[in-house]
Amino acid sequence: MDSRLIREKYFRFFERQGHKRIDPAPLVLENDPTTLFTSAGMQPLVPYLKGLRTHPGGGRLVNSQPSFRSQDIEEVGDNRHITFFEMLGNWSLGDYFKKEQLSWVWEFLTKELEIVPEKLYVSIYEGSDVVPGDTESLELWKSLGVEDSHIYKYPGKKNWWSLSGTPETMIPEDIGGPDSEVFYEFDSVTHNPKFGDQCHPNCDCGRFLEIGNSVFIQYQKQADGSLKELPNKNVDFGGGLERLVAATENQPDIFLTSTFKPIMDRMDEEIVGPIYQDPARLSEARIVVDHIRSAAFLIKDGVHPGNKMHAYIVRRLLRRAAVKTIQLGKGTSFHLDWVTEVGWSVAQQLIKQYDEIGYFTIADGALVESTIGEEMVKFKKAFDAGMKIIETEKNIGGKEAFDLYQTYGFPIEITAELIQKRGETINLEDFYMEFEKHKTLSRTASVGMFKGGLASTGQQETKYHTATHLLHRALRTILGDHVIQRGSNITAERMRFDFAHNEKLTAEQIKSVEDLVNQKIVKDLPVSFYETTPDQARTAGAIGAFGERYGDKVKVYSIGEFSKEICGGPHVEHTGILGHFKIEKQESASSGIRRIYASLS
Ligand code: ALA
Repeated sequence: MDSRLIREKYFRFFERQGHKRIDPAPLVLENDPTTLFTSAGMQPLVPYLKGLRTHPGGGRLVNSQPSFRSQDIEEVGDNRHITFFEMLGNWSLGDYFKKEQLSWVWEFLTKELEIVPEKLYVSIYEGSDVVPGDTESLELWKSLGVEDSHIYKYPGKKNWWSLSGTPETMIPEDIGGPDSEVFYEFDSVTHNPKFGDQCHPNCDCGRFLEIGNSVFIQYQKQADGSLKELPNKNVDFGGGLERLVAATENQPDIFLTSTFKPIMDRMDEEIVGPIYQDPARLSEARIVVDHIRSAAFLIKDGVHPGNKMHAYIVRRLLRRAAVKTIQLGKGTSFHLDWVTEVGWSVAQQLIKQYDEIGYFTIADGALVESTIGEEMVKFKKAFDAGMKIIETEKNIGGKEAFDLYQTYGFPIEITAELIQKRGETINLEDFYMEFEKHKTLSRTASVGMFKGGLASTGQQETKYHTATHLLHRALRTILGDHVIQRGSNITAERMRFDFAHNEKLTAEQIKSVEDLVNQKIVKDLPVSFYETTPDQARTAGAIGAFGERYGDKVKVYSIGEFSKEICGGPHVEHTGILGHFKIEKQESASSGIRRIYASLS
């Protein structure tokens, strides 16, 4: 069963149990300051789980949430860790609880996916001084026919879920509860005593793979450290789709399942040469494929490689993949072209898997390939110059590592790895001291960045907001549909607009864009909006701005027949009041991104 079939079976099964299918949130949650990326399906649903809001879809929801866990970057390389994954989720918002949940999970795995029960193990929360153990789940599993020998009890570190950890480490206001995981056993993997005398579901030897987790979110941490029952008893189920594929294919190496194998084979046969015989090469190849795949999803969600925050993570993924690729080659930057080829291969596979549901299209593939290509051109120069320093400098300490980071874009992890390869270690303290100084400076800048977009709803700013839609549309008409908004910032005096485009605009193009916008202003087109689902908005041809958070309902703003865009507003009612539109300045915002400053007068 491939991932498409499993996803569809999951949706259908839970729809039959009265769940409403909801759209996924984007990987970058713009209004969530607690985290850079969506890392679990529950994140976008926190207000509903806390009982602060009623979900328009009701109390039973089902979805598939693309998730990215940067904290797992270092873990990748074994047979099961990946940084980007799709998390199948079903949700009870104060509706059903443990009994229904566990029996549905069991039925789904054993009947729908036809996994034999003997291959499945479950775990439950054993309890602590503060919270009792989950005896209810224990009894429920038994009643479903799970043998005692297949039920394991673990402490909070393994069987408690919240975004901030165990009952003890949870931060005030965070919500969580005990959870119960299901594991699949691979007979083909023999236990490695390196990981302990006895193998068990949470052993790291690779014999067991966790394929689903039912979290019973019923507590909220208080300021005094105690746990209080939430008004709602909720269920948050998360099942990694890539892992479910591994279980149904009985393949302990995720990278050899149908989700990844075509890319690995291309690496093996055409790009980097044999990877399957040598465990070290296999591990490096997994890292390359994982990182490029994750970067591809982040790029398609609007993150361009750069030096700050989200952008830096994409850069780090791509450059780490690049260094691994170089190591798989002959150790020279010549092999950076291979990275772009892997990027192409990844994009083809993602189009095959996701174009049908509109999650990764041919256009996304083209954007990913060109972005990776550009980043590699940049990294080639940096890599050659940086490598010379790493090879010739005798003492590379934290300060030198920071210079390599700042001047040549060598992520510290990569410098540390390369230094380690020559048998030395790096003292990271100095590096982090330099880094902190730098961060303090850039934090000031990023506060401005978060506030970007519409700063207030003053009238002048509202005008600029509408003018932004006109400009976006005009740029696409004049330059082509590859133009996509990548950011915007508005003050009462001017607008700034960033968009994907590789070249400087010619004087003629600027004039054509200005003329087109002014023509639409003079026509005094009506501005209107309606509310719909993100899917229908896309089908209706609405374009969506970078970083926009898509909830269940979105607003589609139309300006006459000219522009249709997903946007929260507000806007003017008629374009006539905008005045005269003029492009004041253009520059490059970063590679592949142009920036325009414009005014209305
Ligand atoms: N929120 C749970 C997890 O991420 C399902 O494992």
